[in-house]
Amino acid sequence: MPADSKIIEVAGLVRKFGDRAVLNDISFNVDRGETLVIMGGSGCGKSTLLRHMIGAMKPTSGLVRLFGEEITTLKEREIERIRLRFGMLFQSGALLASLTVGENVALPLLQHTKRSIDEIEDIVKQKLGMVGLTGFENLKPDEISGGMKKRVGLARALALDPELLFSDEPTSGLDPIMTAVIDELTLKLARGRGMTAVVVSHDMTSAFRIATRMIMLGHGGIVAQGTPDEIRASSNPEVQQFIHGEADGPIPLNLSQEEHEHHQHVKPRPFARARGRFHRKTA
Ligand SMILES: Nc1ncnc2c1ncn2[C@@H]1O[C@H](COP(=O)(O)OP(=O)(O)OP(=O)(O)O)[C@@H](O)[C@H]1O
Ligand SMILES: [Mg+2]
Repeated sequence: MPADSKIIEVAGLVRKFGDRAVLNDISFNVDRGETLVIMGGSGCGKSTLLRHMIGAMKPTSGLVRLFGEEITTLKEREIERIRLRFGMLFQSGALLASLTVGENVALPLLQHTKRSIDEIEDIVKQKLGMVGLTGFENLKPDEISGGMKKRVGLARALALDPELLFSDEPTSGLDPIMTAVIDELTLKLARGRGMTAVVVSHDMTSAFRIATRMIMLGHGGIVAQGTPDEIRASSNPEVQQFIHGEADGPIPLNLSQEEHEHHQHVKPRPFARARGRFHRKTA
């Protein structure tokens, strides 16, 4: 393989919050043109892993290289330069509430290109069309549904035609037809333009449709990884429970004692504090 085929390198990544290692020695690579799906139970650290991969969080130890550059040690200004090469769809959509849908999608183009307003308008139209939102330019984020916000977030992530896309649950909140539309879009960009994608997903239908490779996270580490066929055939009971969505199995429903103590530690007496606020407001 050519030397530049490795787009992402994650090596020995450890991230602790307090004493608890949410990510504990994670290592994997992503090659150009791959669509890597990251899955795993709620709270297992998928979004945290993505935040480290885009340089938005610094690891406790270990490193992430994007396009051969160690993003974990770069200064914010240098990370900005690398950000031009990738798009990110955040789990929450992360739209700016004061801007319209069209302005949100236009934002990266206004910030990072010298294109004319007419050109930007055309690109915004085209990107919104790709996610099935033609004609929604002038609405505000609080005037559209959760699934629509997700799609606007995706249109914005694609505004600069990135060679690499990070997507945190792009299809959560979408109906099965719209999920298929978004999956088709990911496949088209991956196959047609050779775009590399890292997609966090809980949606197994969608995950198996788009993935060229899958990683399942759990207990701070990588529980399993492989091609979709290898994951389907995995003998690991946690993998089988997850991909078949079964309530009974080795993955516990409740937090472990350690996790429980961690949350007690970070949020002392939450109800007492909330009640204090309530009394102040109504007094
Ligand atoms: N800034 C932070 N400070 C303290 N703890 C954090 C912080 N960010 C994340 N965590 C903890 O790290 C763990 C993993 O969170 P994360 O959001 O990465 O999970 P996830 O796998 O994306 O879950 P979901 O599928 O529900 O989105 C959680 O226990 C969370 O409370
Ligand atoms: Mg998440």
